[in-house]
Amino acid sequence: MMQQVVLSGSGLWTPPHSISNEELIGSYNEYADYFNQENKAEIEAGTLEAMPHSSAPFVEKASGIKSRYIYSKEGVLDIHRMRPLLPERADDELSLQAEIAVKAAKKALAAANKQASDIDAVIVSCAYTQRSYPAIAIEVQEELGIKGFGFDMLVACSAATFGMHRAYEMVAAGTAKAVLVINPELVSPQINYKDRDSHFIFGDVATATVLETAETVTSDNAYNILSTKALTKFSNTIRSNFGYMSHATDADPYGPDKLFHQEGRKVFKEVCPLAAQHITEHLAKHELVPENLRRWWLHQANINMNTLISKRLLGREANLDEAPVVLDRYANTASAGSVIAFNLYNEDLVAGDYGILCSFGAGYSIGSLLLQKR
Ligand code: COA
Repeated sequence: MMQQVVLSGSGLWTPPHSISNEELIGSYNEYADYFNQENKAEIEAGTLEAMPHSSAPFVEKASGIKSRYIYSKEGVLDIHRMRPLLPERADDELSLQAEIAVKAAKKALAAANKQASDIDAVIVSCAYTQRSYPAIAIEVQEELGIKGFGFDMLVACSAATFGMHRAYEMVAAGTAKAVLVINPELVSPQINYKDRDSHFIFGDVATATVLETAETVTSDNAYNILSTKALTKFSNTIRSNFGYMSHATDADPYGPDKLFHQEGRKVFKEVCPLAAQHITEHLAKHELVPENLRRWWLHQANINMNTLISKRLLGREANLDEAPVVLDRYANTASAGSVIAFNLYNEDLVAGDYGILCSFGAGYSIGSLLLQKR
């Protein structure tokens, strides 16, 4: 018999440092001037393109982002470095990603009213893991004293929702009673801070959720998961080629194609209709329409994407109460955006209210969970 699966708690860890658009763009422009000066002869000869300036008004208008949180601010604004400085930790120390995962996980466990001994499985699901093995999830499992098993998953911007889907299936099938899903999105090392098109997009964060069988729920702020829906469709428009193959191909392991890069316009045009259709179809399975939703916890990549999606679905723009926005403060946090929105904006819902949590991004990948407040 299928178990009713409940989302019984969520946790959010926000880094202590932040970088405003003005700070980030100031340093980028200083770097561009330095680059253009250093390469003056080649630029004048027409053999090298000058670096154009970035602009804070452009960034805010084109993306909705005003600021982003970052694990380590050191190094990022230094025009002779243009990347964070993260001291390497020894093998017997807790890794950086496990550390922030544990911080979010503890908050989710507290919100769900659960102890480590209640959890049967740990899924760490995010856009990048800092190593291939041992899995970050197993390190987190050890640190928290959880029995059972853990594994890592990578599904770019849909890692959080797809991770929750796997947890949902385990709990529904009865192979686990409670699963901890964690999204330690430590993305700042993968940002090309010298690339005008993408230097402003991302921020660091960690989120976590607890999914458990209805039989064990004690949290008084919990949601029945009515169903999940996933879609992937191959696209090269958002890509990072970083990986272990560089050791053998002799390619520069940190070349621009190894960092995050995208064709932003194309992504916008292709992903918005896919996401709108996905949500419509998910709701239709339950004989619901967008107007029936009390809240939309949408992926937080770009405010204009969310506006377009809600317009397609509602015939008007959703307001901030219906579709909360966190990317003004958090920027794009890869898979964690919709979970941040859920964490910050769900307590006011009343029993019976419907909400949808939906991610969309690289892959392409789209993942949703239809929730109903208990
Ligand atoms: N500062 C100033 N001008 C900039 C700039 C910057 N940082 N970046 C680009 N521009 C310029 C471009 O050169 C272009 O100039 P042109 O018209 O003279 O050619 C103009 O601004 C418009 O550029 P465009 O790339 O079309 O901007 P956009 O409106 O599409 O916004 C994104 C760019 C990335 C914000 C937008 O495409 C987007 O968010 N796409 C969604 C994809 C996404 O966020 N994915 C994340 C992973 S899910």
